[in-house]
Amino acid sequence: MSRTVYVNGEFLPEEDAKISIFDRGFLFADGVYEVSTILDGKLVDNAAHLARLQRSLGELAIPLPCTMEELEAIQHELIKRNNIDAGSVYIQVTRGAEDRNFLWSEGLKPSLVLFTQTRGAKMDSVAEVGLNVVSQPDIRWQRRDIKTVALLPASMAKKKAIADGANDAWLVEDGFITEGTSNNAHIITRDGKLITRALSNKILHGITRKAVLALADEAGLTVEERSFTPDEVKAAAEAFVTSATMFVAPVVSFDGTAIGDGKPGPFTKRLRELYIDFAKKSLS
Ligand code: PDD
Repeated sequence: MSRTVYVNGEFLPEEDAKISIFDRGFLFADGVYEVSTILDGKLVDNAAHLARLQRSLGELAIPLPCTMEELEAIQHELIKRNNIDAGSVYIQVTRGAEDRNFLWSEGLKPSLVLFTQTRGAKMDSVAEVGLNVVSQPDIRWQRRDIKTVALLPASMAKKKAIADGANDAWLVEDGFITEGTSNNAHIITRDGKLITRALSNKILHGITRKAVLALADEAGLTVEERSFTPDEVKAAAEAFVTSATMFVAPVVSFDGTAIGDGKPGPFTKRLRELYIDFAKKSLS
């Protein structure tokens, strides 16, 4: 069945939705995006996603072509029109369209696209059973704090991880893990510390990461925001990823070495439960 999507002011069947071939999102990956999860027909921690969208746009000096209230109303209209109970809403804002030129003109009209996706049961089960992760060099640009649509390095890394028999990759730069291809990376040490890389231009400032760190104390963990190495991952008691779509998902092996006993660990399970409770309370 065809979805209803939103493009520049209109709700349309997906096959009728059009964007110019001169759109700078298409030609230069000059745009940003957000993914908010839908649970029970409502959005998880959505205000935080919209705030990050605003920040990403600000860093690239792209204006939002509507108000935040209007954007939120479009998200909800799409959930309603597509009758989605569990899934996600994708928002993309690009700088706009004009004849191809590295230098863009001031005052371009940004393009705004939103669509929904339904949540697959397969993804939920992978997230619960645990992920086999491999390391790969981080070849992305140096402004990973901006959620841009330039996702080719992440796509390539994920594709290679699957070809290598794993589920995903954790990216390594200067000897330290930065993050996963589309998630933040965390380990739990044998003495009950949750170690996660500190915020900087090197990683996306994950919305789920932030919520989970605030719940760590309740799970009996102390948080240390610092860089960690692949060897520390292998020696960890547990490891997990966070993202809007995976919530908290255990990592059960790293570069072929089992983490802990090779099964999802108790702290990760607890954090996943606590996060799902938080997510339900945050619905709007
Ligand atoms: N990805 N790091 C990267 C590189 C990401 O792409 C994502 C999210 C995260 C986690 O951020 P958050 O908790 O705010 O979702 C970290 C989304 C889900 C995606 O691209 O589909």
